[in-house]
Amino acid sequence: MPFSLRADSGSPWTGAEIALLRLQWIGSLEKLPTDPTNRYADDPQAAWLGHRLFFDRRFSINGRISCATCHQPDNNFTDGVIKGRAIGEARRNTPAISGIAYSPWFFWDGRTDSLWSQALEPLESPVEQGGNRTFYARLIYSDPVYKKSYELTFGALPDLSDRIRFPDGATPAGNIAQKKKWDLMSAKDRREVNRIFSNIGKAIAAYERKLLPGTSRFDRYVEALLNNRIEETDATMTHKEVAGLKLFIGKAMCVTCHQGPLFTNNSFHNIGITDPATLKPGYLPAIIYLFTDRPEPDYGRYRGIRRALKSEFNCLGEYSDAQEGDCVELIYAGRHHRATLGAFKVPSLRNVAQTGPYMHAGVFASLEEVLKHYNTAPPASVGRSELAPLNLSEQELEQLEAFLRTLDSPVNAETRWFKRPSS
Ligand code: HEC
Ligand code: HEC
Repeated sequence: MPFSLRADSGSPWTGAEIALLRLQWIGSLEKLPTDPTNRYADDPQAAWLGHRLFFDRRFSINGRISCATCHQPDNNFTDGVIKGRAIGEARRNTPAISGIAYSPWFFWDGRTDSLWSQALEPLESPVEQGGNRTFYARLIYSDPVYKKSYELTFGALPDLSDRIRFPDGATPAGNIAQKKKWDLMSAKDRREVNRIFSNIGKAIAAYERKLLPGTSRFDRYVEALLNNRIEETDATMTHKEVAGLKLFIGKAMCVTCHQGPLFTNNSFHNIGITDPATLKPGYLPAIIYLFTDRPEPDYGRYRGIRRALKSEFNCLGEYSDAQEGDCVELIYAGRHHRATLGAFKVPSLRNVAQTGPYMHAGVFASLEEVLKHYNTAPPASVGRSELAPLNLSEQELEQLEAFLRTLDSPVNAETRWFKRPSS
């Protein structure tokens, strides 16, 4: 055992710990799997178009917002504010999105089950990009560069200049007037527009698949450790950081949820985070929220899974390229969703020092505050928290924080992908 208990070191690793560290190492990250719901996921032409759409501010009702307004490339694809801000204020904190293509579920509540169907929501959300389906379809149609690129990838567009068939401002996801316009369109035309809309999502997803996490100091440490380059391990992480890592995979049990090379088990857990903007629920009947300005409590995954199951853009829907056998994740989650009240997606911790404020509601400004939460584990006000207080000492908390800071790394992508496209 070359790496076992070294007498000269304050932090020796056992064989079992080393096996665990290997699982957290970026070298264990498998090649990005194909996405059966999106047959264009790895099509370079689709990524080319998606890259442009991601940065194009015309893709919003006021011509001023793009995905990159909130997912800022210079900011680890997040925005540094408590809740995302665009046309209005989003309901939750903006997640960083490098490595997101590995995820089986999207949004804090997992309300979409594919990367492409995720992208459709901000486009139509009145507080984000605020547009609607016929508006976006026509944008593609009327821009010669987009039209050409779209038709090369996805096939011919219908004649969208016909505003009787394709009225402005039509969508089933909008206000009463927009829904009415949508309902008056023929079923065939509605499907044409949904097809274009979903292809916009598929192009954006093909682009997002290029944004992968890079190698951090922690990864270099593990690599040196696995290769028994002991001097290099000592030069890569300090004793304090190593002690924090030991807590992370040991006594503090962070690794039970922040597991694997992306530091997430891709699941949903209740850790007792409450958005102060919502009412504390107690036993208030749902009708109470009709009579107050405050939004109802955030039920998280409980609502998210139900929305995913209902969505016309889910894995089983007609705009997905998947076979039913590819949709086991959705089917399984639909059957087993009991403990989901107040549960949220376990976020990746790569680059975590750079992605605050933290949690779905942006309630903690610093890692120190996050760790204080884990240390005291207050009870949840929606559902039940799975945490128990850690009761770590001040010194241990500092060690854990120091370790989290070793997870910084640049996005692993060709530089062109994290810049606004030049033409
Ligand atoms: C208002 C700023 C804002 C804009 C504009 C915006 N997003 Fe987001 N994004 C957010 C917020 C906030 C969330 C989390 C929302 C939630 O969970 O309910 C999110 C979630 C996501 C996620 C899921 C991440 C995860 O961990 O599951 C992806 C992917 C994403 N956005 C991509 C995009 C794309 C693509 C666009 C453009 C089509 C876009 N966003 C536009 C703020 C924004
Ligand atoms: C029971 C599962 C679980 C355990 C154990 C756990 N976490 Fe988390 N972690 C989560 C979930 C779920 C969230 C998001 C919660 C939310 O927003 O409501 C989260 C969020 C975070 C965040 C905020 C990330 C961001 O981008 O907002 C950090 C940092 C974090 N965890 C670190 C840790 C550390 C350090 C430990 C060990 C002390 C730990 N976690 C233990 C499930 C867990």
